[in-house]
Amino acid sequence: MALLEVKNLKIDFLTHDGPVHAVKDLSYTLEKGKTLAIVGESGSGKTQGAFALMGLLPKNGRASGSVMFDGKEILNLPTRELRSYRAERIGIIFQDPMTSLNPYLRISRQMTEVLELHRGMSNSAALAESIRMLDAVRIPDAKNRVHMYPHEFSGGMRQRVMIAMALLCSPELLIADEPTTALDVTVQAEIIDLLVDLQEDFNTAIILITHDLGIVAGTCEDTLVMFDGRVMEYRKTADIFDKPEHPYTQGLLAAVPRLDKKVDRLSTVSYEFMAAKGEA
Ligand SMILES: Nc1ncnc2c1ncn2[C@@H]1O[C@H](COP(=O)(O)OP(=O)(O)O)[C@@H](O)[C@H]1O
Ligand SMILES: [Mg+2]
Repeated sequence: MALLEVKNLKIDFLTHDGPVHAVKDLSYTLEKGKTLAIVGESGSGKTQGAFALMGLLPKNGRASGSVMFDGKEILNLPTRELRSYRAERIGIIFQDPMTSLNPYLRISRQMTEVLELHRGMSNSAALAESIRMLDAVRIPDAKNRVHMYPHEFSGGMRQRVMIAMALLCSPELLIADEPTTALDVTVQAEIIDLLVDLQEDFNTAIILITHDLGIVAGTCEDTLVMFDGRVMEYRKTADIFDKPEHPYTQGLLAAVPRLDKKVDRLSTVSYEFMAAKGEA
């Protein structure tokens, strides 16, 4: 049985100007311990498509379709039930770590609280486990740094803290929504390497959401390309890089700087495709 099976997910937002169809038709399957990249330009529905799984849609959003997690339908479950999934079985990392970190509390407090609440640990056991997780995400001097406040960490280190927090309860699924977009290129590469290592160590299934096809190669087994709320292409990542089928994917790929090819400008293919759809 697949860990996650999303079928015909559809998300609409009610607005004063009428409905916005953010996700029109999204389906994919993720096996235990596997990795999937969801790639697409800004506004294509990547974030809301992931938020819907976890009951995190904005208030004016409505989701329909089906989301089976470990054999159970979780789409539109009551908030209380989803909250326990979120804490214990599905971890999430946002682009901006400050979305999930409380600026007024020491990291130690924020991490131990989760373990005390969801794992029933004593405070001292929870602290030891928190330090172990900070070590696992390669935060130097974790024993002392665990007592710091979020603002005392650099952007990259803060993102590592977020990853440690998301992995605290050993979730079966980790959703990383543009986890490196706010970081500079070297730090981006370090965080992606870290995610790949952690995926192997913890056998966590990962959904990596990104607008940058470049960070997907060598990271995720499967890649799903989204455009305008729909799936354009969904195949093995290596096959997509080898032979992109869809003109939109070809455009995305041509925009990825490669060592073996010189790229002077963005490909016009995706613009032609969008023009054909009346988007450009
Ligand atoms: N609360 C909202 N009300 C109306 N439209 C929204 C709301 N939230 C997101 N959207 C729209 O949903 C679409 C998909 O957004 P999103 O999933 O954030 O895209 P991505 O993550 O791919 O950049 C966008 O067109 C966005 O404007
Ligand atoms: Mg997004």
